[in-house]
Amino acid sequence: MEKKITYLDRNEYNYGPCPAIEEVIKNFNPNNLCFYSRTYDEGKKSIFSAYLSDIYNIPENQVILGYGGEDILKQAVHYFLSGKGKQKTLLIPKFSWWYYKSIADEVEGRSIFYPLYEDGDTFKYDFEIMKKMFHQENPDMVLIASPNNPTGNSLTSEELYDILSSISPSTVVVIDEAYASFANQDTSYIKPLLEKFPNLLIIRTLSKFYGLPGLRLGFAFMGTALTKFLNYSTRYLGYNRLSEEIGIAVLKSTDYYQQVANQMGEDRKMYMKELNNLPGFKVYQSQANFILVKYPIELKKAFQEAFEQKGYLIKFMNEPDINTHMRITLGRHEQNVEVINTIKEVVSR
Ligand SMILES: Cc1ncc(COP(=O)(O)O)c(C=O)c1O
Repeated sequence: MEKKITYLDRNEYNYGPCPAIEEVIKNFNPNNLCFYSRTYDEGKKSIFSAYLSDIYNIPENQVILGYGGEDILKQAVHYFLSGKGKQKTLLIPKFSWWYYKSIADEVEGRSIFYPLYEDGDTFKYDFEIMKKMFHQENPDMVLIASPNNPTGNSLTSEELYDILSSISPSTVVVIDEAYASFANQDTSYIKPLLEKFPNLLIIRTLSKFYGLPGLRLGFAFMGTALTKFLNYSTRYLGYNRLSEEIGIAVLKSTDYYQQVANQMGEDRKMYMKELNNLPGFKVYQSQANFILVKYPIELKKAFQEAFEQKGYLIKFMNEPDINTHMRITLGRHEQNVEVINTIKEVVSR
C-alpha cells in the first residue's frame, strides 16, 4: 500500500474543496471549452477580472490575471528587469521566498537583499535601512512581501504608505500579497494606494486563503503608470473558462474560508502554547497559513526522520541566518496535533 503523505511544506490547503466548487463543476457546460471566451470583445480580459474589478472597486484595465501569483511575479520581474545595456537592480527582503531571486537571475538582474530583524517573537522590516538603500541603490524594482514567507510578518496599510512614499516614482514596486487575506479582510486600502502610487503592482492569489494552489489562478492590481506591462501581460484569446468560474465562486464564499482561517488561527495559538516552552524553541507570530519555528539544530536529523516515518513533509529552512528554523503549514487540527506530538516525542528522548 502506498504510504499517505501529509504535505505541510508548501503552504497548501488540507481542508478540502469548498462546496461551491463542486457546484460550479457540476453545472459547467463543457461545450464552453470548445470556444475561446468572447469577453475580450467586450473590452475586458475575463469574467474573473471583471468580477475582481467590481469587488475591489478598481477599473478592470488595472487588473492583471495569471497562472498563479508565481506567473505574474515572473512576468513582472522579466518585463522590468531584462533588457540590454545596464544591468537592472531588484531589492528583495533578506528572508523571503527563494523564487524572487531566481526569476531575477533568469534575466540577469542584480538582486540586493534588504534586512528584516527579529524583535521578540516577530520579524520586522527595517524601515530605516530600507529607505537608505532605496536612496543609495536607486533600484529599478522593489519587491515587498506582506505577509512575508517564511517570516510570517505583515505590514499595515499605513506602513506600506510610509515605505512607498520613500521610493522614487521611477522605481516599480511589487507587493506580493499571496497571504494577505489571512492578515486582513479589509481591502479598501488598495484603490487609494494605487491612485497615490501609479508605479505599484499588488499581487494576490487563490492558492492560499482560498485554498486552490492546484487551480493556478492569481491576480494583480496595478497603478496606471504600468499600462505597458498590462498590454504585455494580457492574453487576448482569454483565460481558462472553468478556472474563471471557480475563481468567482470562491471569492463569493469568503465567509466559508474565513471560518477555516479562524480555525487555523486557533491552531496557531496551540502551536505557540505547546512549543514555546520547550528548551531552545521559539514560535514566531504569523499572519499567514504557516508558522516559523526555531528549534535546537542538533535535533534536525531526528526531527526529519520522525516526520518522514509518520509521512509528514515539513519545510526545514537552509538559508543563511534562518537555518535553525522549520516552516510548518497549518493543516487540519488533527494534523497539527500530530506535528506537535512528534516534536515533543523527539525532544523528550
Ligand atoms: C510568498 C509567495 N508568493 C507567491 C506564491 C505563489 O503562489 P501561486 O503561484 O500558487 O499563486 C507563493 C507560493 O508558495 C508564496 O509563498
